[in-house]
Amino acid sequence: MNVFIIGATSGIGHELWKHYVAKGDKVAVIGRRKTEIDSMVLDEPDNTVGIASDISNIEAFNDAFDKVIKDFTTLDLIIICAGIGDLNPELDVRAELSTVRVNVEGWTNCVDRAYNLFSGQQYGHLVAITSVGGLQPTPVAPSYSASKAYQINYTKALQRKSKGTAITVTEIRPGLVDTRMAKGEGLFWVMPLDKVVRATIKAIGRKRSRLIIDGRWRLINFLLKHMM
Ligand SMILES: NC(=O)c1ccc[n+]([C@@H]2O[C@H](COP(=O)([O-])OP(=O)(O)OC[C@H]3O[C@@H](n4cnc5c(N)ncnc54)[C@H](OP(=O)(O)O)[C@@H]3O)[C@@H](O)[C@H]2O)c1
Repeated sequence: MNVFIIGATSGIGHELWKHYVAKGDKVAVIGRRKTEIDSMVLDEPDNTVGIASDISNIEAFNDAFDKVIKDFTTLDLIIICAGIGDLNPELDVRAELSTVRVNVEGWTNCVDRAYNLFSGQQYGHLVAITSVGGLQPTPVAPSYSASKAYQINYTKALQRKSKGTAITVTEIRPGLVDTRMAKGEGLFWVMPLDKVVRATIKAIGRKRSRLIIDGRWRLINFLLKHMM
């Protein structure tokens, strides 16, 4: 299988990369940190293609995407993990806009490039990692929660669009996960990374349309949905 993981230098994306290369799949990976990308290619040179790229730089990302297609010809699975989220109680506009550039603009470009590629191929599996935070407006990180709400809605739209085609769109919606992304004091129900990655791999394998991880966060998700 040809796999492309966007946002694979740490956290969920990095663990997914380890899983798919161990399975013998050919995996392309993107992230901004070149040293991390280089070391992944060094570790698994036979089945990793790595390009350092920032998804919010649309032109540069499109060049990277084109290079991956040229190399792989077709892709079976594209997983979009890339995202940022800073605590911003001061409402520093620059920080808010930079979240919008990555989680909304750059993310939309990734998702649309992936979907359009799959439309051309007439098959493919697109996976987006959103967040339970998308249902919970967060005063200390307004742009993060708003951007995740956008991703949830956008993913649903693509799921409707893909009906009757051989394109699958999966939304993975975790609660808090123990990665560098989980920031702040008094975090609760922070899930171990390996648990979230195992559940994600299973949901991808089953081509599920949505998975909220885990049961406790499913309950929170249910309550938030009916409160808003
Ligand atoms: N951790 C949580 O509590 C939690 C909960 C719900 C949802 N999520 C979502 O899960 C996804 C993965 O996050 P994570 O928890 O695994 O945290 P993470 O370790 O920070 O992973 C984020 C990944 O995205 C990449 N990335 C960030 N900005 C990028 C950009 N502009 N261009 C290209 N790559 C970029 C990062 O690599 P570089 O820094 O090298 O670019 C990294 O590989 C995110 O979408 C996040 O919103 C996380």
